[in-house]
Amino acid sequence: VPHQQPDLSQSAHIVTFLANKGGVGKTQAALSMGAAIAAAGGRVLLVDMDQQRNATVLLDPDMPDQAFTVFDVLAAGEPGAALDAAYPTAWSSLPALSAGRLDVVPGDSQLTDQHLIEHGLDALEVALRGAGEQYDVVLLDCPPSTGLVVQSTLVAASRAVLVTQPQHLSILGLQQISSLIDQFDQYRSNHGWSAVQVAGVLISQYDSRRTEHRDAQAEVREGFGTLCWNPPVPERAVVQKATAAHFPLLAYPDATAKGLASVFARLSSQLVRTFHDPYLAGLANRLSSEQITADDLTAVGV
Ligand SMILES: Nc1ncnc2c1ncn2[C@@H]1O[C@H](COP(=O)(O)OP(=O)(O)OP(=O)(O)O)[C@@H](O)[C@H]1O
Ligand SMILES: [Mg+2]
Repeated sequence: VPHQQPDLSQSAHIVTFLANKGGVGKTQAALSMGAAIAAAGGRVLLVDMDQQRNATVLLDPDMPDQAFTVFDVLAAGEPGAALDAAYPTAWSSLPALSAGRLDVVPGDSQLTDQHLIEHGLDALEVALRGAGEQYDVVLLDCPPSTGLVVQSTLVAASRAVLVTQPQHLSILGLQQISSLIDQFDQYRSNHGWSAVQVAGVLISQYDSRRTEHRDAQAEVREGFGTLCWNPPVPERAVVQKATAAHFPLLAYPDATAKGLASVFARLSSQLVRTFHDPYLAGLANRLSSEQITADDLTAVGV
């Protein structure tokens, strides 16, 4: 029944990870939060919207190049097409994630804004219709841009996580992202959808010993108030090591990695609570009780 279709997609819990600057930690955040939610028993789908394919490669280095990708999904124009292109990942088979699952719609090096000109800004929203029946949370890993690929995520998602480094120029970029989100209010309201809600601003690669980082955190708090997530994600060399090993932080055998995973678990529980969904509240409680310990947080100075 056509008039029910918008409701289906909007009832899925879809989150877009945004920053117009590159290298600020979007992919790290999306993957670490996806892993945390899966470890708590959640069914998570990550859609790799970035033509760099970083998330896809990290989740599964052996993902075949010829696999049906997000490029094909957007071209299909079929409601729910993304669900047919959702692959289980290597991370899903780790014991730490066995309670839930973390699937991926693989990224594609051909995915450019031109593809959205051809297939419409609502292509992703159409492709994700019905996702809520199979997944508790859908995470969209975006390229560093405010272009059409990113704009298509503002049609599909109901929540946004804004990622920034603790630097003035990165924080200025947050204002551009915020006004991009505002530009979609009318579009969404015409479809009967509520505005995309900023779930939180995540400060990544934070070093509490640096005055300029503390100043930058204060600047974000001034602009975003309680939407500025606490704690910020500390900058630690182990992130590179876990990345090179294609391992989620929560499964990497290292105390600092566990500490960072605890931070991401806390932020994930804040994220899922923004949906005000009773089932997800249970997930948030498990995230807090099972994945966050004071010792772990102390290990990263939080
Ligand atoms: N907390 C951290 N501590 C140290 N290094 C980090 C941390 N978070 C991310 N990094 C590193 O910073 C680099 C950029 O991170 P990431 O790929 O997540 O950013 P991104 O915003 O997705 O980048 P892009 O815009 O290119 O997609 C990566 O090499 C990553 O390993
Ligand atoms: Mg990235």
